Amino acid sequence: MSQPQSNADQIAFWNGDAGAKWAKAQDRLDAMLSEISAELMRAAAPQPGEHVLDIGCGCGGTSIEIAKGGAHVTGIDISQPMLARARQRATNISFIEADAATHNFSPAFDLLFSRFGVMFFANPDAAFANLRTALKPGGRLTFACWRDWRENEWVRIPISAVRPHVPPQPQLGPEDPGPFAFADLTRVRRILTYAGFDRITARPLDAVMRLGNSLDDAITHIQDFGPVSRMLADASTAEKAAATTALREAFKPFAARTPFTMDGAVWIVSATL
Ligand SMILES: C[S@@+](CC[C@H](N)C(=O)[O-])C[C@H]1O[C@@H](n2cnc3c(N)ncnc32)[C@H](O)[C@@H]1O
Repeated sequence: MSQPQSNADQIAFWNGDAGAKWAKAQDRLDAMLSEISAELMRAAAPQPGEHVLDIGCGCGGTSIEIAKGGAHVTGIDISQPMLARARQRATNISFIEADAATHNFSPAFDLLFSRFGVMFFANPDAAFANLRTALKPGGRLTFACWRDWRENEWVRIPISAVRPHVPPQPQLGPEDPGPFAFADLTRVRRILTYAGFDRITARPLDAVMRLGNSLDDAITHIQDFGPVSRMLADASTAEKAAATTALREAFKPFAARTPFTMDGAVWIVSATL
């Protein structure tokens, strides 16, 4: 079956409200993803002097971490507001504004790395075939992607609470670009194999994610980011108020957790050329 070619929808999305919100909340999102980052860094093991491409680098949190270890990092992203934040934070890192699926790379990198930046390609077969051209012979790839949303407590619980109160949502197919597009490992393996990668491994990581300092803080945060924010985008004021009440009810069993945490379910995927 032919796949769509254009990432225009994602480019618009990450340059709109979503990108602006990520740029503003960069500190808190980095804190929320810190446990996952630490595991991902261990798996990727960037070495001093290596050249690393951080795909969908966003506000640069992982690029900065990798550079601290002595590697030369290039971050690539389509989001102007997120790249502006990244450039403010790190002047020793080169950040490129470009679509990683189509950018004209030369084979300069030892490691392709990504924290949740590779699930948004309209045509992942073509995107990974293109990304492969950025790797030196024998180079490697390591990225984190989400497992199925139902395995992700931080998504399943709020989505189930909010859904009855908001307008009907467009039904995303499991392969449509979005945070959960790489939940199915059979698909991931097929895409990477097609692109010419070898020795593909994936291991599950169950991580604790800090959603806020308190219950109230987490309720605000979850409405601003990720799948719940998309569900609320077209909701009326009354629907939003009902959704907030439902979220509070659903989060109550976790209220004693300070800071407020929920579990995330991730794949750490690695491969080599
Ligand atoms: C969920 S955010 C993750 C950001 C960052 N890696 C982090 O962990 O903080 C996904 C990122 O992928 C970027 N992205 C999506 N499609 C892209 C593409 N085709 N090329 C480059 N970046 C892309 C978005 O702009 C966004 O910054």
